Amino acid sequence: MTPPIIRIEHIARYEGQEVTLRGWLQLKTGKGKLQFLRVRDGTGIIQAVVFRGNISEEEFEAAKRLPLESSLIITGIVKGDARAPGVPGGYELDVRHLQVVQEAAEDYPIGPKEHGVEFLMDNRHFWLRSNRQWAILRVRATIVKAIRDWLDDNGFILVDTPILTPAAAEGTTTLFQTDYHGTPAYLAQTGQLYNEANIFAFGKVYCFGPTFRAEKSKTRRHLQEFWMVEPEIAWCKLEELLEIEEQFVSYIVQTTLRERAAELKALERDTSHLEKVIPPFPRLSYDEAVACINEAAARGVTVPPHDDPLPPLEWGNDFGAPHETFIASLFDKPVFVHHYPSAVKAFYMEPEPGRPEVCRSADLLAPEGYGEIIGGSERMSDPDVLLAAIDRHGLPREPYRWYIDLRRYGSVPHSGFGLGVERTVSWICGLEHIRETIAFPRMLGRLNP
Ligand code: 4AD
Ligand code: MG
Repeated sequence: MTPPIIRIEHIARYEGQEVTLRGWLQLKTGKGKLQFLRVRDGTGIIQAVVFRGNISEEEFEAAKRLPLESSLIITGIVKGDARAPGVPGGYELDVRHLQVVQEAAEDYPIGPKEHGVEFLMDNRHFWLRSNRQWAILRVRATIVKAIRDWLDDNGFILVDTPILTPAAAEGTTTLFQTDYHGTPAYLAQTGQLYNEANIFAFGKVYCFGPTFRAEKSKTRRHLQEFWMVEPEIAWCKLEELLEIEEQFVSYIVQTTLRERAAELKALERDTSHLEKVIPPFPRLSYDEAVACINEAAARGVTVPPHDDPLPPLEWGNDFGAPHETFIASLFDKPVFVHHYPSAVKAFYMEPEPGRPEVCRSADLLAPEGYGEIIGGSERMSDPDVLLAAIDRHGLPREPYRWYIDLRRYGSVPHSGFGLGVERTVSWICGLEHIRETIAFPRMLGRLNP
């Protein structure tokens, strides 16, 4: 009987049986009659033990010679309770046959020694094979699935929005311009404006895709291309929006903790902070936040990562990273900051009645210095106020005519938000830098590979 071809993730079902695995050689040690091959197959890692007496002479010689990252097919008996160092799962394969599919070149660029970040980024196509990147991207996949599951199960309809767009939605300074058969077009910064059209047909919608911002500065939190999920809800005011956001974020975090415990452990993530991410989240108005910041700045409070003094903040200015870090540090859960000054936010946010200098907006700041993971707001309902806002932001009227018209045919109070996937992955995995949260990051000064 030919042994079944299996994946390492299912190895426990086959203890004592002969199976075939297909994968890549990650590490090799051994001497004399015994070779230990650490093999990776995409679903897990196993130690394959090649003993000279159990295998043909040619196959043993091939194993001994085999360069790292060679692809191979191995057949052997699954042994339980192995304590191979660095190999999770506790199983090993007692090898009886070994077939080399492609013998890798000897000079695989990534070795066990420390490499610089630029070198690793140049070799991202190989770096992805490392255990750490594997763990991060598996966490990402689970976060994405949790996002979709929660929205699909809570009455939201997925409606995809365009990537080639005629106008800015999140400020004109971060637009990527391209040519649309002789007309300038821009890569979408957001799908929100289209979501706002879609709610009139579907009530609750979301779009989920890549978005583009030509960010001009290098930071640990900004990509040029990032994935954003944007729910938009008819008949929804700001207060209800925040309740939806906290349910959503807590579901994503708790699902990931449950389903990716092994990966988070491999990343040495202290998950005690994440376990506390349960509604309700604290809410702080922008006014209150500014007061807290200035009181602390006067006391000489410093903020991570470099313990620089917290700068004071004049009312009306947007937060910098140290302000976000400081505000988040006051709580052990994500915190909503609401009612920002209208002047620092996008044109479409509803002004607070009787206090138009602030808008019905809220950002969600993640704990531990991970910064803003969600931006959201109630949307402007009055077509004349909206037109005035478009003028005030120096935006052309024509490309927004359809958007303004939405307010003339059955307008309702509505709200929505956008959650950045990579910021969320950074936070949940506890990463220093956003570059590791997506397979091929697009950053200032880097388009390759
Ligand atoms: O706050 P932002 O700009 O909000 C919007 O785009 C709204 N249209 C969303 C909506 O209401 N439908 O961006 C939302 C989130 C941020 O909180 C952040 O998580 C992420 O998108 N984000 C970025 N992530 C990585 N790199 C960048 N350059 C990002 N810019 C924003
Ligand atoms: Mg924002």
